[in-house]
Amino acid sequence: MKGHLVDLSRLVEKEIQQYTFPQKPTNLYDPLRYIMTLGGKRIRPVLTLLGAELFSTPANDAMHAAISVELFHNFTLIHDDIMDEAPLRRGMETVHTKWDQNIAILSGDVLMIKAIQELAKQKPEHVLELLNLFNRTAAEVCDGQQMDMDFEKREDVSIPEYIEMIRLKTSVLLGCALEMGAIIGNASEQDRKLMYQFGQQIGLAFQIKDDILDLYGDPEKFGKQIGGDVISNKKTLLYLTALKDANEAQKIEFLGLEKESNLDKKVDGVKTLFNTLNIREKVSIIMEIHRKYAMEALAAISIEESQKENLRALATYLMEREN
Ligand code: IPE
Ligand code: IPE
Ligand code: MG
Ligand code: MG
Ligand code: MG
Repeated sequence: MKGHLVDLSRLVEKEIQQYTFPQKPTNLYDPLRYIMTLGGKRIRPVLTLLGAELFSTPANDAMHAAISVELFHNFTLIHDDIMDEAPLRRGMETVHTKWDQNIAILSGDVLMIKAIQELAKQKPEHVLELLNLFNRTAAEVCDGQQMDMDFEKREDVSIPEYIEMIRLKTSVLLGCALEMGAIIGNASEQDRKLMYQFGQQIGLAFQIKDDILDLYGDPEKFGKQIGGDVISNKKTLLYLTALKDANEAQKIEFLGLEKESNLDKKVDGVKTLFNTLNIREKVSIIMEIHRKYAMEALAAISIEESQKENLRALATYLMEREN
């Protein structure tokens, strides 16, 4: 991140360091102290603060909402890592690996409640609208997560189905984070919708980038297990594009690899096939299309051009990131 975005992420970081969980039961709250201080990019809270600032409202006025979104995001990560059987998160052991699955379920549950409590601390005149948006979004994330799991067992997932799945599991939360800022900034209905739209399109590009990094990321920097999506037979955009572009022989080899029990062989085999088919390049083009749609939404928002620069910079950072 650069410039003002760094200031905002520092502000968020400071606030998170000061956020306290109860001491006991330790097996409920230690995992939360652990995950919340492991780092992470803090993109969603930064979006909320930026959203408020765009409509001439000080970032600090949106801080409870910003922290709420980050708490909720960390709840989704704890449960997502159970569902994806992921060993690593932010370069460290996942909660269910370091403690156990039951602890990860319940500490995730309470974290979700903490998120709602934090949101309810915003000014009373905004709380109902914020909660309605939050609740709708939280339910949509669950819809998307279930679709993601169901797709592991299907071989006929279409690209539009994939886009809808990532819209729900990932993009709606970025849209929600921005719209919350706009609500707190008393933006017009039209601008709120455009902010949400920007968040949603940048969220699609963000998840496509996540899919790319899952296989092509640098293990030192990415902080998650490389090849995790291949191991779980996730229907990522890389997978779906490869299946579409493969010839008959490649298709047979590709589908055979789904059942390969030697995981190194599986990941290497899939990666070689993707490389032959130029999948990384093809998928990056689709990512850029969604970034472009996001820019179109941004262009239509009725604020000064110069104020949009931070959102453009954030979009660039998200597309170029290595973790
Ligand atoms: C990870 O989100 C989950 C996805 C939606 C891809 P981030 O990449 O924002 O994770 P952190 O918070 O920076 O660790
Ligand atoms: C993440 O999708 C979506 C949510 C956490 C809701 P992934 O499963 O791809 O996220 P990572 O890669 O584990 O962070
Ligand atoms: Mg995951
Ligand atoms: Mg997942
Ligand atoms: Mg991922």
